[in-house]
Amino acid sequence: MTRQNQDKEKISLLFICLGNICRSPAAHAIMQRDVDDAGLNDRFSIDSAGIGPWHVGSLPDRRMRQHGARRGLDVSHIARQFDAGRDFRSFDYIVVMDDDNYRTITKMASTDADRRKVIKMSDYLKDHPGAQSVPDPYYGDGADFEQALDLIEDGCSHLLQAIKGKDDGLAMD
Ligand code: 4NP
Repeated sequence: MTRQNQDKEKISLLFICLGNICRSPAAHAIMQRDVDDAGLNDRFSIDSAGIGPWHVGSLPDRRMRQHGARRGLDVSHIARQFDAGRDFRSFDYIVVMDDDNYRTITKMASTDADRRKVIKMSDYLKDHPGAQSVPDPYYGDGADFEQALDLIEDGCSHLLQAIKGKDDGLAMD
């Protein structure tokens, strides 16, 4: 099997937020940890991107790196901007953090199939039933970063369970 074919068989996930320096790089690190812990590293390809261009090329926000490190996470993705043409083609699931992200990204989809790839993290917040989104902590304080991480850990864990449930080849546990 060629390397390209191996990659095609991977389930690919792209996490999206506004700036790609707080929520989506944290989701990227958390899902990568969860996939690694489940022994599924060779079956998943994970990335993150931002809607805006402001932080392209930068490390995640220092506060997110620090709060993540306290949970043993390496939040170190270099920010990039969402590229509708390439990213809709490349990814199976595009996971957004809030309703503004959802509106913006679904507007860029050119087919129904692409639009269906866009899913909301809030649909997987099973341990936080009242939560409607992963709020942006950028203008907040340490508690807001902790809350974002709590929500993202909840969402990633249940999203991974849902994907495993849909894909027979990933049956584990
Ligand atoms: P994120 O947070 O979308 O979770 O990365 C933000 C970071 C920066 C900005 C907005 C949101 N900003 O406007 O620069």
